[in-house]
Amino acid sequence: MEQEKVIVIDFGGQYNQLVARRVRECNVYCEIYSYKTDLGQIRSMRPKGIILTGGPNSCYAEGAATCEKELFEMGIPVLGLCYGAQLMMHVLGGKVEKAPVREYGKTEVKVEQDSPLFADVSQNTICWMSHFDYISRPAPGFSVVAHTTDCPVAAAENREKNLYAIQFHPEVLHTLEGTKILGNFVRTICGCGGSWRMDSFVENSIAEIRNKVGNGKALCALSGGVDSSVAAVMMAKAIGSQLTCVFVDHGLLRKREGDEVEEVFGENGPYQLNFIRVNAQERFYRKLSGVTEPEQKRKIIGEEFIRVFEEEAKKIGAVDYLVQGTIYPDVVESGLGGESAVIKSHHNVGGLPECVDFKEIIEPLRSLFKDEVRKAGLELGIPEHLVFRQPFPGPGLGIRIIGEVNAEKVRIVQDADAIYREEIAKAGLDRTIGQYFAALTNMRSVGVMGDERTYDYAVALRAVNTVDFMTAESAEIPWEVLQTVMSRIINEVRGVNRVFYDLTSKPPGTIEFE
Ligand code: XMP
Repeated sequence: MEQEKVIVIDFGGQYNQLVARRVRECNVYCEIYSYKTDLGQIRSMRPKGIILTGGPNSCYAEGAATCEKELFEMGIPVLGLCYGAQLMMHVLGGKVEKAPVREYGKTEVKVEQDSPLFADVSQNTICWMSHFDYISRPAPGFSVVAHTTDCPVAAAENREKNLYAIQFHPEVLHTLEGTKILGNFVRTICGCGGSWRMDSFVENSIAEIRNKVGNGKALCALSGGVDSSVAAVMMAKAIGSQLTCVFVDHGLLRKREGDEVEEVFGENGPYQLNFIRVNAQERFYRKLSGVTEPEQKRKIIGEEFIRVFEEEAKKIGAVDYLVQGTIYPDVVESGLGGESAVIKSHHNVGGLPECVDFKEIIEPLRSLFKDEVRKAGLELGIPEHLVFRQPFPGPGLGIRIIGEVNAEKVRIVQDADAIYREEIAKAGLDRTIGQYFAALTNMRSVGVMGDERTYDYAVALRAVNTVDFMTAESAEIPWEVLQTVMSRIINEVRGVNRVFYDLTSKPPGTIEFE
């Protein structure tokens, strides 16, 4: 049976992936495409509905992102959000101009007319606004459904043609009834049944992989991170011992992490795959010896990783498939899906495909968002501590140690980080803080311990909250928790006599500490 889907057309706004996620929360599958995508292609995907996102431009400006009038004439329901709403009006003959008052933030929207889009939504509802243009006159055939104090057209509809325009952002959580509004669109207006569920996704994917691979062989580079772990388990369930996983321990993992990965994927674990752990710690430390420049460290770690993997791949010989843990944001951000092309090239170890002799790449998680990957992981029975693992950079602790990286410094930062994580979990904060870790400054200073003078390192504690990892704020951790972490680190980790808490946001800082 064909998977029913809604298409999100991306005009470059900052919340576009969120739109798709919210739709999927309504159990409706959806995909993001750039506004430049050919209309014929969109039509051929037979979407049940189309959502036009926000965007940074003025729709009446020359060269602004636009769409064809035909988009609204295909008989497919369309919902325009913010820029998408303005564009719908502009293209269909309404008027959009600079608003006398710019609206930004939480705003009360008054629903003045009954509409299927607002079914069960309060008459006065708080919504997130962010716009400097506004719709001053709706297009012919549209009626105004809602307004705010400063915005005469906060929502408009042409019910007969199934066209809906809303000025605010239902995808942002500050819009209190946003999910309900999106749900009304995809379920009631588009008529989607809402059968997109993780258990059936997992089941179908396993069957598809099995079908595709047949008697073939697959190879997977396992990092221990969430994405590669979930991809590997899905593959293992599908093809068992036809899968080989290579796990390179570069000696820059968190404390006990290498062993934890082995416990799950190794021969005493629950899966019947071929697991190869390469203990390459010494090799990496040797290459990193004397190197202090952060970019150079990243490069060395990345290149060495590929060398080690290549040696293993050669031993294994040709395979049919190379498994990669690519997830949907990677697809969108690499410019293949949507419009907001933020390319984070440094973020993942590239170069793997070149060093393996294979026929095809399999990316079992290519259509999933991060939270969906986690749900899939739980469905697959992967332990929670792996599924809810924090983002951890490919170059590992190599980019959480300032200055030269060596075994001694790795031990210090591993021990300090383990204590920090333990205390954060004990305080019940582990699921609420976006990302947190200990890092090692290269600073040594004088202290006293007992009656002795010390000259030891300072550890930096980092904790941030972030929505998209592009910007971040330092998290407020209760003072007592920080005190406990500080005193445990100084008492238990040899070589440390000071602990700092890093208050810097991003920008101007970065999340990592390198
Ligand atoms: P920054 O430090 O750039 O980090 O503010 C943003 C997010 O990306 C993660 N990060 C990486 N992830 N490989 C990765 O897979 C990398 O090389 C890398 N560098 C940074 C970082 O942990 C944060 O979540």
